[in-house]
Amino acid sequence: MTSSLQNLLDNNRAWAAQMEKDRPGFFTSLLKQQTPRYMWIGCADSRVPANEITGLDPGEVFVHRNVANVVVHSDLNALSTIQFAVEHLRVEHIMVTGHYGCAGVRAALLGQRVGLADNWLAHIADLRMRHRKRIDHLPTEQARHDVLCEINVIEQVGNVAQSTVVRDAWARGQQLTIHGWCYGLKDGLVNDLQVSIDRSEMLLDTFRAAIKRYPRADGGQPPQPEEDDE
Ligand code: CO
Repeated sequence: MTSSLQNLLDNNRAWAAQMEKDRPGFFTSLLKQQTPRYMWIGCADSRVPANEITGLDPGEVFVHRNVANVVVHSDLNALSTIQFAVEHLRVEHIMVTGHYGCAGVRAALLGQRVGLADNWLAHIADLRMRHRKRIDHLPTEQARHDVLCEINVIEQVGNVAQSTVVRDAWARGQQLTIHGWCYGLKDGLVNDLQVSIDRSEMLLDTFRAAIKRYPRADGGQPPQPEEDDE
């Protein structure tokens, strides 16, 4: 029986031949060692491919993707990938890249049940709850969704920056910057959320400044003692 994926295999043959024709030795040059300067942590969404968006070739960006680009402190998969990128490949930049129109963020925002992934998306539902005063008063679902997509990225930048791997790297003087980006499905453009962090001492101030760009419904009154707004 002919494989139903034959068109993909044909594409692969044509791509490999064209690459070798345009840049002789391209594949063999990557054989020994990858030396990417960048790590991408993004959503698994098929519309948000790391290499194409950034114009990077094979060998130039180390990629970890999951549903809604969440970095959980106990997620061995994400942490192991970050450790390999930082300690072995010695990447210089980690871009946490969310995207507007993220179905995972929308499900968390609206409390929609999607199945097993509800447990994963609970991390984003928690963020929605923590930042409700910056989200719930927005006039449209679209606006609430866009802001939660951005806040999720900012929070995940904080999680990466607080990981033992990244703190250890900074402590030994390794050059490493964590960035927060949000990608627009509608125009293909990346929005830099201005939350780049390159040392532990920057974390709190940078994080607070980023979150404060989203006005609270109460005009920014200090949170009451029992509230955990930031
Ligand atoms: Co998504």
